[in-house]
Amino acid sequence: MVYNFSIEKAKILDNQDELSHFRNLFDIPKHNNDDSIYFSGNSLGLKLKKQNLYLDQELNDWGKMAVEGHFMAKTPWISYHKNLEGPTSRLVGAKKSEVVTMNGLSVNLHLLLTSFYNPTIEKFKILCEPHLFPSDLYILKSQIELRGFNPEESILFLPSDENGVVDNDEVLRIINNKRNSIALVFIGGVNYYTGQVFDIKKITETCRKNNIIAGFDLAHAAGNIELNLHKWGVDFAAWCSYKYLNSGPGNVSTIFVHENQIKNKPFRLAGWWGHKLKNRFRLENKFSPIESAEGWQLSNAPVFGMSIYRSSLELFDKIGMKNLIKKRIKLSSYLEEAINSINTELDLKLKIITPGNAKTRGGQLSILMDGDGKAFYNFLRKSGVFLDWRDPNIFRLAVAPIYNSFEDIARFHNLVINAFKK
Ligand SMILES: Cc1ncc(COP(=O)(O)O)c(C=O)c1O
Repeated sequence: MVYNFSIEKAKILDNQDELSHFRNLFDIPKHNNDDSIYFSGNSLGLKLKKQNLYLDQELNDWGKMAVEGHFMAKTPWISYHKNLEGPTSRLVGAKKSEVVTMNGLSVNLHLLLTSFYNPTIEKFKILCEPHLFPSDLYILKSQIELRGFNPEESILFLPSDENGVVDNDEVLRIINNKRNSIALVFIGGVNYYTGQVFDIKKITETCRKNNIIAGFDLAHAAGNIELNLHKWGVDFAAWCSYKYLNSGPGNVSTIFVHENQIKNKPFRLAGWWGHKLKNRFRLENKFSPIESAEGWQLSNAPVFGMSIYRSSLELFDKIGMKNLIKKRIKLSSYLEEAINSINTELDLKLKIITPGNAKTRGGQLSILMDGDGKAFYNFLRKSGVFLDWRDPNIFRLAVAPIYNSFEDIARFHNLVINAFKK
């Protein structure tokens, strides 16, 4: 395919695309009265114009009914999280009984590790990727300490190249070779720094053969890549809703627990919202958990946050991940070509470190720049491009197929060419 980065050509591509009209449903931040070029959907997704639809309903019902809203609201609060089970399970290829939405992501990872990290004297190590998100590292270290083990001896980082990219086959080899000491493999489905997509299916299969628990942080994977958590046999996973899923800053997270694990009745920290509904309000002393992922709930469910997530999930359900992924592939390929074209026309040497091609990676491209990358990043930010910088020398751009356009990419390309052309 021959790419051309004129705005006219990009507009034609947008007009031919079946999903392009969904962009109009979003508020796009402005720069000099024009739409900004928003490539930060991997960090915080954009706001749907109608995102207050369900939130307003809950605020109104609260005003009108107060405490009665728990049972009498149009969408009763007592079971509000159940409205999210369908769309969240379809998003990640799960059964409804395997997902529940609650808390923030880091809190949920702690709850899941409490259930699924069960070290013994021989088998106590956690295998994870080198550029683990800092919160995940703090979580792992504190969980290891909680069990009386030493984090320095218990965390095993996968080897990588100089940019943090891991050889996918090497992951499987290490799991096989170190099976006697590894209790848990805990990996980000898509690494936040490099954008690398890990082979969740093969990692999980290899873990299962070796009696190792496979858990994933899907913060950068949910709403971005194809997931089949139930079929792949993933033991547990969690993700936040505010990146590709556009539910707003710090909003709620969803967990997945495989039904085979639910049946095993693992230890879990208990709270009243995880107690069976039929006698929850008798306030008895014995905790009797719901026999689904719901049993991991602790607190009264956060209805306002979930109501915002719900509007956004409806859109994902309507479009479907398959269609979003098709569009993501086209946008990602166009962005890669735009970067190649910039490298050909200018002397910038932008190197994409994200492994794979447009089909095998997600929406994010992590780019390493020879020379003063920070100055280039600062120029882009001042020019209305949203992207982010990660020390020491990486910037990250992500396309979100639900609102990004070919025109965004052509404008980015032309902005750089015009600014740096001698
Ligand atoms: C990969 C990853 N894990 C965990 C977190 C922490 O999420 P939260 O602050 O919602 O707990 C983030 C946040 O950006 C993240 O990117």
